[in-house]
Amino acid sequence: MMFNTGQTLHSIINGADHNRGDLLSVYNPADGSLLANVTQANIDDADFAVEIASGCFEQLKTTTAQTRSTVLYRWYQLIMDNQSRLAEIITLEQGKPIQESKAEVVYAAGYVRWFAQQAERSYGTVIPPHTPNHQVTSHKQGVGIVLGITPWNFPLAMITRKVAPAYAAGCSFILKPSELTPISAIELAKLALQAGIEEGAFQVLVSDKPQTLIEHLNSKSAIRKLTFTGSTRVGKLLYTQCVDTMKRASLELGGNAPFIVFESANIESAVDGLMIAKFRNAGQTCIAANRVFVHRDIKAEFVAQLKRRVASLKVGSGLNADFDIGPLITEAAKSKAKQLVEDAIEHGATQVIQSSEKQQAGTFMSPMILDKVNSDMDIYHHEIFAPVITLIDFDSELQVMAMANEVNVGLAAYFYSSCLKQIARVSRGLDFAMLGINEGAISNPAAPFGGMKESGLGREGGAEGIDEYLETKYLCQRI
Ligand code: SIN
Repeated sequence: MMFNTGQTLHSIINGADHNRGDLLSVYNPADGSLLANVTQANIDDADFAVEIASGCFEQLKTTTAQTRSTVLYRWYQLIMDNQSRLAEIITLEQGKPIQESKAEVVYAAGYVRWFAQQAERSYGTVIPPHTPNHQVTSHKQGVGIVLGITPWNFPLAMITRKVAPAYAAGCSFILKPSELTPISAIELAKLALQAGIEEGAFQVLVSDKPQTLIEHLNSKSAIRKLTFTGSTRVGKLLYTQCVDTMKRASLELGGNAPFIVFESANIESAVDGLMIAKFRNAGQTCIAANRVFVHRDIKAEFVAQLKRRVASLKVGSGLNADFDIGPLITEAAKSKAKQLVEDAIEHGATQVIQSSEKQQAGTFMSPMILDKVNSDMDIYHHEIFAPVITLIDFDSELQVMAMANEVNVGLAAYFYSSCLKQIARVSRGLDFAMLGINEGAISNPAAPFGGMKESGLGREGGAEGIDEYLETKYLCQRI
């Protein structure tokens, strides 16, 4: 093990360890053991962090995009150089299998590299003037101090995809990471400082009373932008907190992804895609396949292949590379998932694969397939966030499109078909912002990640990602 458990770590304010304040204990979800204690930031510390971020934002205005890009490239390299260590930390505090943690480090670093490139491409425009005596242009500049709130399910990647574009745009950033996974955030900030990021450009405030701290920060007009990844319920609450000071908000919220297998699909490849789209991080992703619609004509073959693959999954500690599914994040997460399963079974769903009791210990939950799921069940309408597949039959494209779209969220959707005309029709018709077409793995720093309807506002990554942190300034100059 490269990470020494039991040590005291610190929130990071003004580029330094914040070595006073109450301690927050961080536990390993796989066995409940103590990983570290972390010093927390209180309201006064938050005020100080805002003051520092404010001075830093002024300082960043004097830096060039090229300089910031160079810092980001160095940060990218340091993250990659520390891949094994960071992956171990992710697995320890979040639980996912070590091979997935290694992939998350690459994914997280990918955002830093992408925005190192984008930093130099924040172009304004030259506008044809309205009189011969004017020169009219528009310029892009950083929006100001950004408050970022990140979740536990991707303790590294959800941070870099916010901090990297913010810094590329010239903004200073205050991060409140999940209290369940603050270690990754702290390590990431230390690497950013090592890469040469300005001391006030990336501060980390850890707190186990996040509501109070965030409400306080959100009330400050010095903070010009909120970026949040998490549930739709909390996203709505935070959005209302932005109204008073007219903060801009990027919200990456919940999903309820349909995964549709049409009758012309290549069944083997659809099963492959579902294994990724469902079981990555034990189902704890907001783009996880939540409702699996399978055409009645191919259902028997699809289920036969799926059962074989699901039965071969091994559940256990993420540190052991033999295991495919780690623990769920907390007991509460597991009991919520179990309640959804119980409700589905009470309403007529049937369990296709029975889990063994041994694998169900602690926060571990064995993968499960539920058949005969329908819209009367809670599981159809809620994000499951657990390794449970729900199967729903359908007979026609029209019918399945209506079912897929009948939810109030629109993040990711997946479908498998070998009919080109159907692919075009379904791509147009699905009310979801990200589509996997004959593909179950869609995450990519170069693509715009985000949602429609109540799945949120704005996009992260891609060419759009940096725009969320830029103001447009219009200059009308008499010449
Ligand atoms: C999420 O679950 O919020 C993010 C998943 C991803 O970026 O792939």
